[in-house]
Amino acid sequence: MKFGYFDDQRREYVITQPDTPLPWINYLGCQAYFGIISNTAGGYSFYRDARLRRLTRYRYNNVPFDLGGRYIYLRDNQSNQFWSPSWQPTRHQLERYECRHGMGYSIIGSEYQGVEARTRYLVPLDENLEIWQLTVTNHRPAPAKLSVFSSVEFCLWDAQDDSANFQRNFSTGQVEIEDEVIYHKTEYRERRDHFAYFACSAKIAGFDTQREPFLGPYRGWDSPLALERGESANSVAHGWAPIASHHVKLDLKPGESKQIVFVLGYHENPKEQKFDPPDSQTVNKKSVKAVIAKYRNPASADAAFEQLRQYWDSLLRICQVETPCVHTNRMVNIWNAYQCMATFNISRSASFYESGIGRGLGFRDSNQDLLGFVHMVPSRARERILDIAATQLPSGGAYHQYQPLTKRGNNDIGGNFNDDPHWLILGVAAYLKETGDWSILEEPVPYDNEPGSEQPLYEHLQRSFQYTLARLGPHGLPLIGRADWNDCLNLNCFSDTPGQSFQTTTNKEGKVAESVFIAGLFCLAGRELAEITCRRPCPDGKEKLQSPCSSAAKLANGYLAEVARMEEAICQHGWDGEWFLRAYDDFGGKVGSKECEEGKIFIETQGFCTLAGAGLDNGMARKALASVRQLLATEHGIVLQQPAYSRYYLELGEISSYPPGYKENAGIFCHNNPWVMIGEARVGNGDSAFDYYSLINPSKREEISEIHRCEPYVYAQMIAGKDAPTYGEAKNSWLTGTAAWNYFAITQWILGIRTSYDGLEIAPVVPKSWKGFKATRKFRGVTYHVDVERVGPGNNVALTVDGVVTAGDVVAPPPEGVRQVAVKVTLS
Ligand code: GLC
Ligand code: GLC
Repeated sequence: MKFGYFDDQRREYVITQPDTPLPWINYLGCQAYFGIISNTAGGYSFYRDARLRRLTRYRYNNVPFDLGGRYIYLRDNQSNQFWSPSWQPTRHQLERYECRHGMGYSIIGSEYQGVEARTRYLVPLDENLEIWQLTVTNHRPAPAKLSVFSSVEFCLWDAQDDSANFQRNFSTGQVEIEDEVIYHKTEYRERRDHFAYFACSAKIAGFDTQREPFLGPYRGWDSPLALERGESANSVAHGWAPIASHHVKLDLKPGESKQIVFVLGYHENPKEQKFDPPDSQTVNKKSVKAVIAKYRNPASADAAFEQLRQYWDSLLRICQVETPCVHTNRMVNIWNAYQCMATFNISRSASFYESGIGRGLGFRDSNQDLLGFVHMVPSRARERILDIAATQLPSGGAYHQYQPLTKRGNNDIGGNFNDDPHWLILGVAAYLKETGDWSILEEPVPYDNEPGSEQPLYEHLQRSFQYTLARLGPHGLPLIGRADWNDCLNLNCFSDTPGQSFQTTTNKEGKVAESVFIAGLFCLAGRELAEITCRRPCPDGKEKLQSPCSSAAKLANGYLAEVARMEEAICQHGWDGEWFLRAYDDFGGKVGSKECEEGKIFIETQGFCTLAGAGLDNGMARKALASVRQLLATEHGIVLQQPAYSRYYLELGEISSYPPGYKENAGIFCHNNPWVMIGEARVGNGDSAFDYYSLINPSKREEISEIHRCEPYVYAQMIAGKDAPTYGEAKNSWLTGTAAWNYFAITQWILGIRTSYDGLEIAPVVPKSWKGFKATRKFRGVTYHVDVERVGPGNNVALTVDGVVTAGDVVAPPPEGVRQVAVKVTLS
C-alpha cells in the first residue's frame, strides 16, 4: 500500500493523504539555517545548532506524535468556520490534499469548501530565514470573505533549557512588534546579540505574541480562541510563552487568487550595535530591514525558489545514472544524494527521532557521512574534516561528539570509543581521492581545540593509527574501549544500575575485551594511510613527487607491516571456522561464535573485514559472506546478529537491553548492510550485492509502506528484524550512516565508478541479467560519460576512452582543457 508517489521529473515525493503511518518529513535549508517540516507542516527551525540556537519550539514525545509547526489557519468569515490547509492541527476532512517534498522545499496544498490554499516552504540559499509563500484561491461561484492566521511558537533558544527550566523561562520572554513584523528577543537584553523575526507581506488586521490569549485557556492548537472569534487579541508577550501570529483579512472574488508571504528568520547584530537608539532596550533593526523587505516580495520568493532548484540541479548533476532499475536510478540520482546532504549537515542531531539536544556531530558519524557528500561540495567537506580533526585528542583518540556551534568536543560523552580515530583516515582518503587537494594534509590543526597544539592534519592521521597500536589486547587485536562502531556492544561496562547510561557510565579499564571489527577497520585505514603517505607531496616542496622519498616509503612500509600483522591476528584469532568472530569479552570469552548460546554470528565483521579485503585470498571472505546469506539475510534486509539475545547479558551491555529484533539486538541495522554489499562486490558477486541493495532500497519498499511505515524516499536507521513482532517496520528515518554507505556502495562498488588517486576507476560488479548501464560523473572538473555494455557474464572490464583502447580499469585525467570524456566499457 502506498500513501503517495514519486514525481521523478520534478524530483519530488508527492504524499496524497495526510495521515501517513508516521510523519513523513523533509529538511529545509542546507547551509546554516535549517528546518524540519512534516507532511502536515509540523516541525521546527534552528540556526546552525539544534540545541543552542532553536528558533521555534517542538515538543517531542507529544500526542499526537507530530504537533507544533508552521501552521496557517484559514477562516471563512461568512460561516465562521476555520480549518488548517495542512490538515494538522485542526484535521478537517480536506477535499483535496497534496504534500510535495522536494529538494530543500515542501509544498502543501489542499482544498476545503471551495477554497484552495497552497503553501511553499523554503530556505533561500545564503540566507538565515525561511519563506512560507501562501497562495489562496477562491473556487466558489461567490465571493469569499476569509481570514488568514499564521502561527509559530518560539523556543527560548537553548532547546534543552527551554524544556526544563520553567521557573526562569516563564519570566524571560520578550517581543517587539513593528510594521507587521514580530521580533522575538528573549534574553536579548542581556548576553544574546541574536533575535528571531516573523514578518508578513500583507497589511495585518491584528496579531498575537502571547500563546494563551491566542489559544484561549485550556485549548490547544486545534481550536485557537482567536480563530473562533475571528480576531487576534493583539497580545504582547511578557514572559510565559512568546508566539507570533498575524491576522490578515482576505476578500476573494470568484476565481481570484492572492498571495501572502511570511518570513521567519534569524538575525545577529554586532555587540556594540545591539540597540537603537544605543542607550535604549529596543532591538536595532537597521541591518535586518532590507532582508525582510526583500523576501516579503513574492518575486524575490520566486527567485529564491528558482535559485534553489538550480543549485540542486548542479549538485545532482555531478553523478547521474541510468540503470535497468528505476529504484536505483531514483535513489542515486535524487533521494539518496539528497539524504547525504542532510546527514552531512545535521549528523545525528535533529530529526523527528533525534531531539536536537543530545548528540551534536559524531566523530565517527560525520567522517562516514563524507563518503556520500564529498563529491557535492568538496569545500564544505574540507572544512568539516578540519573541524572534526580539531576535536581529536593528543592521544590520537577522539571526542565521540562535538557541538556544531562551538565546534568543541562534548565533555558529557567524552571519548574512548576505540574505532573513532580510524574514521578520520577514511574521511580524509575519500576527500583526497575526490579532489586531489593534497594541501589539506598540511593544514595546521590543533588537538582538543587547544591553541598552540597545532600539527599538520597528516600528523593527526598518524596518531589515529598509532592509537590502536598502543591499545592491543591479548590476541593482538584492538582493545574495544567503550564500544566500537556498535555503540551498544559495551564489553567493559557491566552496568547493573537502572537508568544508567551505557554510553557514559564509568567503564572498566578494559585490558582484555577486543574488537575484531576494529581490526578490520584498522586494516582498511592502515592501507589508506600507507597510500596517502607514499603519495603525499613533500611538505616543503610544492611539487608532487613521482615516487615517495625514502623516509615516506619506509613509513608506509611500516604501516603495511602492521596491517599484515593485524590480518594475521584476524585469521588466527578472529576466525570462527565459518565466519569472522565479533569480539572477545572482558573474560576473554568469544562474542559472535558458534560456541555462544546467542549472538553466534554478527554482520559487522563479515561486512567490514571483507570490505577491507581481509580473507580475500584464503577463502575466508567468501565463506563469511555465504554464512551471512545463510544465517543473517532476510526478505527485509540483513539482521545485525543471530540468534537475538533473549535476555540481558551484563558482560555485553546495551545490545542485550533491546528486545529481540530491535536496534542492535538483531534488528536490520541498515548502516552495515552496504558493507556486505561491498564485500560481495569485492568477491565479484554482483547478483548478491545488488540483491542486498534492493532489499533495503526505500523506493523499492514504497509498495509496502503500510509495513515499512517510514518515508519511502529516504533510508531509516533500522528495520525491525525477523525476531520482532513488527518485522519489516522501519524506524528512525533520515539521520543515519545508511545514507552515505548505500550511496558509496551502489555508486562506487556495484556500479563501480570509483574515485582513485590516479583517475576515475571503472569496475562494475552488477547483476548478470543487466545488459549494461550509463552514468555521467563529474570528477575533478571533467565530465565522464560512461557507457557500460555487458557482453559476457563476468566482471572483466575493457575500456575505450575517447575512442582509444585503454589498459586497466582507470581512466587517467585527460589533457588540459578537455572537459568531456567518453568512456565505453565492455563487461565480460
Ligand atoms: C548509531 C550511531 C552510530 C553507531 C550506530 C551503531 O547510528 O549514530 O555512531 O555506529 O548507531 O550503534
Ligand atoms: C543508543 C542507540 C545507538 C546509538 C547510541 C548513540 O545506544 O541504540 O543506536 O548509536 O545510542 O548514543
